[in-house]
Amino acid sequence: MTSPALLITRDELLLDDLLRLAAAAGTTLDVAHDAAAALRSWGAASVVLVGADLAEAVASHRPARREHVHVVGPGPVRDGLFRSALAVGAADVVELPAADAWLVELLTDAADGVAHRARTVGVVGGSGGVGATTFACALALTAAAAEPAVLLDLDPLGPGVDRVVGLDAAPHPATGVRWDALVGSHGRLGSRSLRAALPVKDGLAVLTWAPGPPVALEAASVREVLSAARRGHDVVVVDLPRTVDDVSAEVVSRCDQVLLVAGTTVAGVASAGKVAAVLRGLAGDVGLVVRGAAASVPAEHVAGVLELPLVARVPTQRRLAEHVDLGLGPVHSRRSPLSRAARVALDVQRAGRWVA
Ligand SMILES: Nc1ncnc2c1ncn2[C@@H]1O[C@H](COP(=O)(O)OP(=O)(O)OP(=O)(O)O)[C@@H](O)[C@H]1O
Ligand SMILES: [Mg+2]
Repeated sequence: MTSPALLITRDELLLDDLLRLAAAAGTTLDVAHDAAAALRSWGAASVVLVGADLAEAVASHRPARREHVHVVGPGPVRDGLFRSALAVGAADVVELPAADAWLVELLTDAADGVAHRARTVGVVGGSGGVGATTFACALALTAAAAEPAVLLDLDPLGPGVDRVVGLDAAPHPATGVRWDALVGSHGRLGSRSLRAALPVKDGLAVLTWAPGPPVALEAASVREVLSAARRGHDVVVVDLPRTVDDVSAEVVSRCDQVLLVAGTTVAGVASAGKVAAVLRGLAGDVGLVVRGAAASVPAEHVAGVLELPLVARVPTQRRLAEHVDLGLGPVHSRRSPLSRAARVALDVQRAGRWVA
C-alpha cells in the first residue's frame, strides 16, 4: 500500500512532530529528505507536506502544479517562506504546534481518502411535488441501514429532509449543525468533524436547513462540505432543487449518478423532459424513477418518452404522510413500496451505472 501523504524535510524536529501527528491520525508518512527525491512521489501522493526548511529547494525544481500541497514549519514562520509556498503551489503555510489538530484531521482524511470515496447520487424531481425529496430520504435511509450514509438537502424551499426522515419529531428534535453553520466558514472541513457535527437518524447523517429564511449557499462552502461528506461515508445522497443554479449545477456535475423522479401525467412527463435536458448537459449518468399509481401509464412508456434508463418505480404508498408526521419516516416497513424501490435503486447503483 502506498503512503497517503508525502513529507519533504530534513528537519529532525519537524519530522518527529509530523510522525507523531500521523500516528495520531492512524497513518504513516512517505518521507523524502531532499527535493529531487520528493519530486518522484510528488504527483502520486494524496497530500504533500513541504517542510519549511526545504520549501525554497523544492520551489527551485519548479514542481508541477497540484492540489493539496501545504508548507509546514514551526511557528512563527519567517518572511520569505510565503514566496516559496507560492512557488511550490501550496494552498497555505501551516504553523506548528498551532495547527496540530488541523493536521491530524488532514492526515486522517488523506488516509481515508486512499480507500474511500463515497458513491454520490443526486435526486431531482421532474415536476413539483412528484415525490423526489421523499424518494431521496427513502434511498438514504435504506443505504444507511447497510453502510455509512449522509443525506444533503440542497433544496432551500423544500420541506426539509429532517422532517421527512423523522429527525425533528417531538419530543426530542435533533440537535446538530445545519447549512447556516457551515456557509461562510472557510478552510478545510474534516470528514469526521462533519459527521460528528450533523444530526443522525437511524445511522443516517443529515444536512439540512435551519428554520426561517434559507441562507444563500456559496460554491466554496458547498464544495468543501461535499468533499468531506464523500471522504467520510460510503454513500452520499443529495436532494437537489428542480431549478438548477450555479451551486447546484456544480453539485450535479460532481454526482456519480443522478436520478430523475418523474410522474406519469402528461404534464409531469413534459416537465420531466425539460429537467432531463438540463441534467444531461451536467451529469454523466442520469437514470429514471417513475412515481405513480400502479394502474397509471406504464413506467416503461415514460422511460421511452424521456429516453432514460428505468431504474425503479415507486407506487403510491398508503399512509405515507401520516407516518412522516409521526416521525417514522418513509421506510419504516421493509415491505413498503418506497422501501422496495430504494433497495432496487441501490442494487442498480452499486453495479456502477444505471445502464450496463
Ligand atoms: N410514493 C409516494 N406515495 C404517496 N405519497 C407520496 C409519495 N412520494 C411523495 N408523496 C407525497 O407527495 C408530497 C410531495 O412529496 P415530496 O416533497 O417528496 O415531493 P418533491 O418532488 O420533493 O416536491 P418539491 O417539488 O417540493 O421538491 C408529500 O406530501 C409526500 O408525502
Ligand atoms: Mg423536494
